[in-house]
Amino acid sequence: MKKTVSIRKKLGFPTKAQFLKEHAIYTRESLDIAGHEIMQRWETNYMKKLASIACANGGKVLELGFGMGISAHFIQKYKYSQSTPKIKSHVVIEAHPEVCKYARKMFSKEIKVGQLKLLQGYWQDVTKELKKESFDGILFDTYPLTEKEIHKNHFYFFKEAYRLLKKGGVLTYYSDESKRFSKEHLQKLREAGFKNIEWESCKVNPPKESMYWRRKTILAPKIIK
Ligand SMILES: C[S@@+](CC[C@H](N)C(=O)[O-])C[C@H]1O[C@@H](n2cnc3c(N)ncnc32)[C@H](O)[C@@H]1O
Repeated sequence: MKKTVSIRKKLGFPTKAQFLKEHAIYTRESLDIAGHEIMQRWETNYMKKLASIACANGGKVLELGFGMGISAHFIQKYKYSQSTPKIKSHVVIEAHPEVCKYARKMFSKEIKVGQLKLLQGYWQDVTKELKKESFDGILFDTYPLTEKEIHKNHFYFFKEAYRLLKKGGVLTYYSDESKRFSKEHLQKLREAGFKNIEWESCKVNPPKESMYWRRKTILAPKIIK
């Protein structure tokens, strides 16, 4: 954890406006922006798990942060699900213009027929336009753009998630926790109104040189309203 903070401090923190002007550099394995490792392919297994949690109720699913589209790919698969209720709609909020361009190309067909709706902008500006209690599942995976948000950017979303979820709706997110939720993490969830707090452990295998995760497990939250 400390290592991640020091690496990010060295890289510096682009302002929200500056971040949008930096290029999104995609390889098969990764997405980098402004020198930051934003997303990496080793997270595939974890993204699959988060997508399964967000789609467990079927219905309307909201995703925040498109990145490489790995979780979006798994969420889309639940349109055809036999074992769980099918999802009816998939709304994605993504701030970065080049990431949005990548998303439009990757899911051109789905966007055209209305099976994926892409909203461009920072979630802090976009979600207030969305109706309360309108989603059955939410997958939150953005990227911390300030020092105080490192390992905690999801904390700032919990209240908004509570507003947006239907009763019985489920929230999941990149947890930044390897074994159990910290006291602060639990407190933030409870302050937002969540009482039903569970998680599953997911095995991962990040490369040794990963800037942001070096452990072999990561928790997949299952937070029900
Ligand atoms: C870790 S990636 C998402 C990875 C994605 N789950 C996947 O499977 O590929 C984070 C994404 O969030 C976007 N982002 C960062 N801050 C954001 C914000 N406040 N609102 C919306 N998108 C944001 C970044 O541009 C980036 O595309």
